[in-house]
Amino acid sequence: MKTIFSGVQPTGTITLGNYIGAIKQFPALQENNNAIYCIVDQHAITVPQDRLELRKNIRSLAAMYIACGIDPKKSILFIQSEVPAHAQAGWMLQCVASIGELERMTQFKDKSTGKESVSAALLTYPPLMAADILLYNTDIVPVGEDQKQHIELTRDLAERFNKRYNDVLTIPDIQLPKEGARIKSLQEPTKKMSKSDTNSKATIRLLDTAKEIEKKIKSAVTDSEGIVKFDIENKPGVSNLLIIESALSGTAIADLEAKYEGKGYGDFKAGVAQAVIDHLTPIQERYYALIDSPELDEILDEGAVKANAIASKTLKKMENAMGLGRKRR
Ligand code: AQP
Repeated sequence: MKTIFSGVQPTGTITLGNYIGAIKQFPALQENNNAIYCIVDQHAITVPQDRLELRKNIRSLAAMYIACGIDPKKSILFIQSEVPAHAQAGWMLQCVASIGELERMTQFKDKSTGKESVSAALLTYPPLMAADILLYNTDIVPVGEDQKQHIELTRDLAERFNKRYNDVLTIPDIQLPKEGARIKSLQEPTKKMSKSDTNSKATIRLLDTAKEIEKKIKSAVTDSEGIVKFDIENKPGVSNLLIIESALSGTAIADLEAKYEGKGYGDFKAGVAQAVIDHLTPIQERYYALIDSPELDEILDEGAVKANAIASKTLKKMENAMGLGRKRR
């Protein structure tokens, strides 16, 4: 039995990138493992958020997790800010991290470049992410490729903590999906698809209507060759659409190339759009049935109790190892 931990930021309706790269893996991992899934709202506030919008996004993400197959009877589902140990352990891990290694994080560079002022937390949130993972003695972290550097940092911080203080933290491994570890923007297919992209045509969101999905895929940037072939270097737009259809339909990329042989990009895009619509329709139905239900609050309340029980134990061990507070009899 392994412990699985992963989190998603409530920074807007999740995209096909978040889904294919991470969330799609979560339901299978809750079978025969200790699976713990988190809504990482404290990470969301590293960039400015509207408070009402944030609250709405937190609830929406909770409903979305369940709509995508998280079963609260098998997994723990909770909100990060409802478990105080995360911020406490995050502080301890900041004391173990160096500024230099945090400045090297590409997500920090991406989100801070060109900005006149950024929050200190944008620099220091990777140790908070490390705390999220380490508090649960996590063995496996299923995430997309953009999180690889943060997981490596988590491992480094845990090893450093264990060496410097006491051997209390489990060193986690990353698990990337076989396909779709980095879904690209539909408008700039060399850039990752991102929730916070301001160009609405660049992302497919899990609550997009069938019409919106068709329209966005129809206007996806491809090339002028007119041949449906997987070639990430020379045909990034076509390859991205092939990965999306393959991941959602379960059809191998080679079989999709055969399906579209001799057909133009019009037919290809219509086929990709249909695969997306077919996959998302049942998820959307489950989401809308859940979003206003009191059951959702009960699930999150129960999740917070269970998460607090595990996290507070590891926190105590970390505090003892570092010598914080008083020795308890
Ligand atoms: N384009 C992507 N392809 C594959 N996986 C992706 N993930 C994100 N984008 C892609 C994975 O989704 C999970 C949740 O991500 P997050 O919400 O914690 O933040 P992020 O990685 O910064 O994702 P976004 O969509 O770009 O959010 P914003 O715009 O708020 O920064 C992670 O497992 C991530 O790897």
